[in-house]
Amino acid sequence: GLPTSVRIYEVGPRDGLQAETAVIPTETKAQFIERLVAAGSRTVELTSFVSPRWIPQLADAEELMDRLHLPDSVRTVVLVPNRKGLERAVAAGAREVAVFVSATEEFAKRNLNSTVDGAIAAATEVTAAARALGLPVRGYISMCFGDPWEGTVPVERVADIAKTLVDSGVTSLSLGDTIGVGTPGHVLALLDALRERGIPTSQIAMHFHDTYGQALSNVYASLTAGVSEFDSSAGGLGRCPYAKGATGNLATEDLVWMLHGLGIDTGIDLDSLTDTSSWMAEQIGHSSPSRVVTALRAA
Ligand code: HMG
Ligand code: MG
Repeated sequence: GLPTSVRIYEVGPRDGLQAETAVIPTETKAQFIERLVAAGSRTVELTSFVSPRWIPQLADAEELMDRLHLPDSVRTVVLVPNRKGLERAVAAGAREVAVFVSATEEFAKRNLNSTVDGAIAAATEVTAAARALGLPVRGYISMCFGDPWEGTVPVERVADIAKTLVDSGVTSLSLGDTIGVGTPGHVLALLDALRERGIPTSQIAMHFHDTYGQALSNVYASLTAGVSEFDSSAGGLGRCPYAKGATGNLATEDLVWMLHGLGIDTGIDLDSLTDTSSWMAEQIGHSSPSRVVTALRAA
């Protein structure tokens, strides 16, 4: 059967804000995170310690971390691309870090100025260093289903990378459909390939972008395969500025609506979350693309 509870991994403050053209004050980001936690988010990706020239939107990572005082019960994670990012994150008091690699060469080049193997080597090095400091490490793989330049991505390739990351010590994996092209059969085939390599489902999270409207169907397929952690962003904010045609993440509200309808616990108060996303949309200056936010606002 389906899991009785699901961990929603909130990426709004990171994936959601990394491509916004509006400059968002650090204080607004902090309030966004505090409101998410007040609405019941138990896991939040706060920001990125990447090159500020690549992602100027998150260049205030140190200031944001300094401003936040979240309870230990909230799992907080920050994205780091390399040793320098790990050093900055540790100095800022990070409790968990996320490394990220690409399943395709063109995106490794555009997002990390590297190759697939070079990005894996960097992630492996950061993982070892972070684990030696006692930090859990999440390993993201981008372009797990398709890539705008290279087309469909073979599941075997993604499964091989996943196995390499798990062997290098990542404590969990997040499989990214960066441009939202995946469909449920492909999701099940990928999860099968990971199972064949002995990777436990309890270590796997799915990260869907809703570009082609497939995200919830893909979540449902993943649930039937035993996955119980899903990435989403409040109000459906977000995309990767280095991935052509990418739009927002699956909206947390849309995910919560489906999970609660299935009787699956998330810990999230939907009204409070919707208020937060609507408030954030005002700060950013454009309305939420989430269907559930739109419907509840009109109700
Ligand atoms: P590079 O230009 O090759 O880096 O970029 P470099 O090592 O040559 O360094 C260039 C300059 O950046 C140097 O400064 C470094 O010190 C500095 P300079 O000496 O010229 O003044 N630098 C840094 N500064 C601060 N913090 C750092 C850092 N690293 C270098 N950590 C690099 C390589 C990896 C740095 C760059 O490509 C980068 O930062 N990329 C990140 C891009 C990004 O954040 N993309 C979005 C997140 S991934 C995503 O959204 C996908 C995901 O959601 C899952 C999915 O949907 O698939 C996770
Ligand atoms: Mg993403």
